[in-house]
Parts: sequence; structure tokens; C-alpha cells
Amino acid sequence: METVALSDGEHVPALGQGTWGMGESKSAHAEEVAALRLGIDLGMTLIDTAEIYGDGGSEMVVADAIEGQRDRVFVVTKVSPGNASRTGLPKACERSLKRLRIDAIDLYLLHWPSNTPLAETVEAFEQLRSSGKIRRWGVSNFDVKDMKELLAIRNGSACSANQVLYHVGERAIESDLLSWSQRNKIPIMAYSPVGRGRRLLNNATLKKIGERHDSTPAQIAIAWVLRQSGIIAIPKASNKTHVRDNAQSADIQLTDQDFADIDREFPPPQTKQPLPML
Ligand SMILES: NC(=O)c1ccc[n+]([C@@H]2O[C@H](COP(=O)([O-])OP(=O)(O)OC[C@H]3O[C@@H](n4cnc5c(N)ncnc54)[C@H](OP(=O)(O)O)[C@@H]3O)[C@@H](O)[C@H]2O)c1
Repeated sequence: METVALSDGEHVPALGQGTWGMGESKSAHAEEVAALRLGIDLGMTLIDTAEIYGDGGSEMVVADAIEGQRDRVFVVTKVSPGNASRTGLPKACERSLKRLRIDAIDLYLLHWPSNTPLAETVEAFEQLRSSGKIRRWGVSNFDVKDMKELLAIRNGSACSANQVLYHVGERAIESDLLSWSQRNKIPIMAYSPVGRGRRLLNNATLKKIGERHDSTPAQIAIAWVLRQSGIIAIPKASNKTHVRDNAQSADIQLTDQDFADIDREFPPPQTKQPLPML
């Protein structure tokens, strides 16, 4: 499995697992835990969750999935913007740690820009880092202007990643955020890499490329996101077949012909596009 270097030198797998939609129903719990455990066994040892997913339920699914193998897994969770204040952030962090049943979060992200001044949130993140509750922090849904504001703040450059929407059908970050992030060595964590499993999976071009590689459209979509170094993809799959397919997508080598077909079907942006978010 390819890895991506974070700014502090830590290496994480380029392909991880998302968990949005997990932890919402008791009857799905065992299947979700089993899917994540299979993904870990197949090398997708970075797991992304958030306090908001399933109202904390997703973090509890992750807790069961990493039980007995905490040290193999890189745990990412996110604080909601309403909890990003000096007093709110440590409390939200404690609640997440309790649900996850771990002592420290590997990467703690601000889920989207908050009304709390960014400098206050960064200071609170840094305090959590000093106290050992989190190992590093980052942001999500930050466009270039938000990132510039962040880097101008004291300790802002300690940001370890920016998690944003990116898949073949949604290429807005290619208009500037992607190159800006690469220049500034801040890894991009691509969310919804298979387009939430909808329109993309029936796309004729992705199907045709898939046939050339004996692969599914979802696998081609993931391989495309992983085509350049410095990008982490976090597909979510509760279905074990999907988990296996996703793990294999890291080995697909797309050709110039594949890239050309994708660019024709899903043209890259020609002018600055604002960052979309789900
Ligand atoms: N920071 C943010 O604001 C933000 C926003 C959105 C998402 N995220 C994170 O990113 C993760 C991934 O994004 P997402 O959940 O929105 O969408 P996604 O990973 O693009 O798509 C998930 C959907 O695709 C299906 N799927 C996955 N692999 C498949 C495969 N190989 N073949 C066919 N279908 C497949 C899944 O089905 P099954 O579950 O049935 O297997 C699920 O319905 C989230 O779970 C979350 O952790 C972050």
C-alpha cells in the first residue's frame, strides 16, 4: 500500500476507510464492524469518522472495529464547528475519546469552517496536542482562502491535512486548492471518492475503463483519486465485497488512454471553482 507523509513525518496509507452512515442502526452494527475489520486486515488502516456521524454512533462502531488492534490503526475524527471554541473543543475531544475508547486521537479535524475565530481553535488544538489527547490536527472543507488565513495564524502551519470533496465527477479542487496544497505540503484527504456510490457507478466511461482492467467503476474512481502522490482517499463501505474491491483498487495502474477518456467525460475545471461540500 502506498503511503502519504504527513508534515510531521508520520506515514499513513493512501487508502483508508470512511464511516459516514455507520452507527445509525443497531441491526447494521456487526456488519459495519466486520467491514472495517476486514479493511484493516487488507491494509486500509486509516479510519475516518466524526462526532456528528450517527450522533456519535459511528465513533462507537470504530471503537469496536479497532478493539485489540489500536496500534495498527490511524484514527481520524472531526469536531463540529459549533464545538470549536477554547472551552468546547476539549470537551468534544473527551467525548470522542470516550466513544472511541482510545487515549489519543491520531488526527483531529475541524469538520468545516467555524464562527469561532480560527486562532482560538488552533490554540485549543495545540493545547490538546501538548496534553497528549491528540497527536496532530487538521481541517476539512477549507478552500484556498481559508487555508491562507490558517497559515497566517500562529501555529497554523502545524495543520496536518485538509479533507475535501474530490472524485472524478467533482474536480473543483483542481482549479487551485490541489496545487496550492501540494506546494505547501499539506496532504489532501479526498472524501466521497466513489461519489457516494451513485451516478458514477453507472457511468459508461468508467465501465469501459473498468473492463480494460477487469475492475469495477468504483475501483477505477478510487484508482483515479490515488493517481498522484500526497492524496489520501477514504471510501466508505459497509459491504465486504465493496471493501475487498476498494482495497484492490490501490493496485490498478491507469493508462494515458484511461486518463484521456476520463478527462473527456469529466473535464477538469478551466477557471477557479469554489470548493463544494456535502
Ligand atoms: N469532511 C466532510 O465533510 C466529509 C463529507 C463526506 C464524507 N466524508 C468522509 O468520507 C467518507 C467517504 O465518503 P462518502 O461516504 O460520502 O462516499 P463514498 O465513499 O464515495 O461512497 C460510499 C457509498 O459507496 C458505496 N461503495 C463503496 N465502495 C463501493 C464499491 N467498491 N462498489 C460499489 N459501491 C461502493 C458504499 O456502499 P456500502 O456502504 O453498501 O458498501 C456507500 O453507499 C465518509 O464515509 C466520511 O468518512 C467527509
